[in-house]
Amino acid sequence: MKFQKIFAASLIAGVMSCGVAYAEGPHDKAIKARQAMFQLYSFSAGVLGDMAKGKIDYDAELAKELAGNLNAAANLGQSAFWPAGSDNSNPDNLKNRALPKIWETFPAIGENAQELKDAAAVLAAEAGNGLDALRSSMGAVGKSCKGCHDEYRAKKR
Ligand code: HEC
Repeated sequence: MKFQKIFAASLIAGVMSCGVAYAEGPHDKAIKARQAMFQLYSFSAGVLGDMAKGKIDYDAELAKELAGNLNAAANLGQSAFWPAGSDNSNPDNLKNRALPKIWETFPAIGENAQELKDAAAVLAAEAGNGLDALRSSMGAVGKSCKGCHDEYRAKKR
């Protein structure tokens, strides 16, 4: 039964190639974890930014809560999120934008992380004290995000 053999062979090949296509890279979980952290940064800073710009009403309680969340996220221990080899140059990795420079110049990136921690601490203390206080403490946060992205994040995935 030639046909059946060919069919069976192509089925096996198909299954195997699916296996290869969907295999998890060795660092995918760590990459997902750090990207989840950045999504938390982004959501918190995004809503606060909308308040600061007047796109949504200022709400002291919510501002305080979100700034507290950003501050907590900025202070997460990150050692396990950045294993060597989890940069964007390795095709085995989940698509990501972490430039190899992070590891090549380590621990320099820690200075940028510290900038965010400092700015987020001020924001957490100020965000609930009125719109002006929120506005004046948001700038340093945004600057710290951009500063690190300019140095260490690829423009595209
Ligand atoms: C110390 C450096 C650093 C700081 C500070 C930083 N980022 Fe990033 N950010 C990165 C790097 C590197 C990546 C790429 C990570 C990856 O793709 O795995 C990234 C990725 C992201 C992503 C994409 C996440 C995803 O799902 O792929 C968002 C959104 C983001 N950052 C937002 C922010 C915001 C908002 C701030 C400031 C509140 C911030 N980042 C501060 C380095 C930084």
